[in-house]
Amino acid sequence: MRVTRRELMRQVAGSAVFAAMPRLLRGEGVSPSAVDNGTITGAGSLKAHAAARGLLAGCAVNARLFREDEGFRKLLAEQYSIVVPENCLKWNILRPTAETYSFTDADSLVEFAETHGMKVRGHNFVWHEAIPSWFAGTVNKENAQKFLVDHIRTVGGRYKGKIHSWDVVNEAIWIKDGRADGLRSSSPWFELLGPGYIDLAFRTAREADPKALLTYNEYGIEYDNDEEGKKRGATLALLRRMKADNVPLDALGIQSHIKATSKDGFGKGLTELREGAKALGLQVFVTEMDVNDDAVGTDDVAERDRIVAGVYRDYLTKILEGPEVKAVLTWGATDKNSWLNTRNIRKVHPERLQRPLPFDADYAPASAFFAMRECFDKAKKRAAEDGGSLGGRNTGLLH
Ligand code: XIL
Repeated sequence: MRVTRRELMRQVAGSAVFAAMPRLLRGEGVSPSAVDNGTITGAGSLKAHAAARGLLAGCAVNARLFREDEGFRKLLAEQYSIVVPENCLKWNILRPTAETYSFTDADSLVEFAETHGMKVRGHNFVWHEAIPSWFAGTVNKENAQKFLVDHIRTVGGRYKGKIHSWDVVNEAIWIKDGRADGLRSSSPWFELLGPGYIDLAFRTAREADPKALLTYNEYGIEYDNDEEGKKRGATLALLRRMKADNVPLDALGIQSHIKATSKDGFGKGLTELREGAKALGLQVFVTEMDVNDDAVGTDDVAERDRIVAGVYRDYLTKILEGPEVKAVLTWGATDKNSWLNTRNIRKVHPERLQRPLPFDADYAPASAFFAMRECFDKAKKRAAEDGGSLGGRNTGLLH
């Protein structure tokens, strides 16, 4: 007879075996639902809970960790249905020189994803950051268009048919630059090509990979405050303008780098964003979620995790109200390599490692993991024809 996990727990509780079991196996520090489900993998994984609602669960993948750590690769395969390279598709990594491309890391992640039946997001074609050092001395107003188009054709073409969605343009709004349309005029791409670089990038991306969902990805548009409200408004205005001009555009990516402590809340603005995107026929993805806990006063790890998980819960509950939201990705999976643990980001507690992600530095699920699963469970099921795990434009074509 198959002994259920609960029965096994009852039998071994109190025994020496029990005392020797790791905390997680004993069900300590784990929400009751996790114990009932018996496991955090398989049917208990993030991807399984997400898929039950027509959602994708994903994370950004650090190339070095992916290359060097088998445990990390195992975690990815067990937990996620979509991955996005954290850095290796950015210009500064992909383009060591003006003439060359370095595809090794991206190729191996795409291959891994194929092997494990996962989807891949492409991040990104155009960004004002991660510009290679050779760029300024080589790219000028005369040749910039050719550089941009060649790059998108080459990279988009290489992974054609294998990408769920491309972040075609990243972070093009910057209110402080003072333009009426909110565009970031200080971006090298804007300086070289003017505002037309955005449409050019999307049109070229559609030609290069007609099946990929073309996404505009932005941050600082999540909270209910004046500053983010302005950026949100400019973002929606940009999307509306693109649609009116028949620019190929399929999705809005809301980065969702949020804070464990903030005087502002979210809700109204998120609804406005989702609804605005939906009215334009766009899908919405949470593309880079993490919860920065640098400013949390207490050093108590359990308390910090409780606070972080609470923010995950509030945020995801709110955003998943909209069936147009099809995917939730965190920026990294484990605290071991979160970008929030780079020194210059830890300002209030520079000596303390942040705990912003669903898995801690030892790959044990943190409270945020359980909060994510709960939010997936609570979400309404996305209709298959809406996309979700079947992927919108990609239905039937990927994996
Ligand atoms: C970050 C990476 O995580 C870092 O490793 C890198 O040094 C800088 O970029 N918004 C984005 C991501 O769109 O590409 C950024 O990733 C985080 C903020």
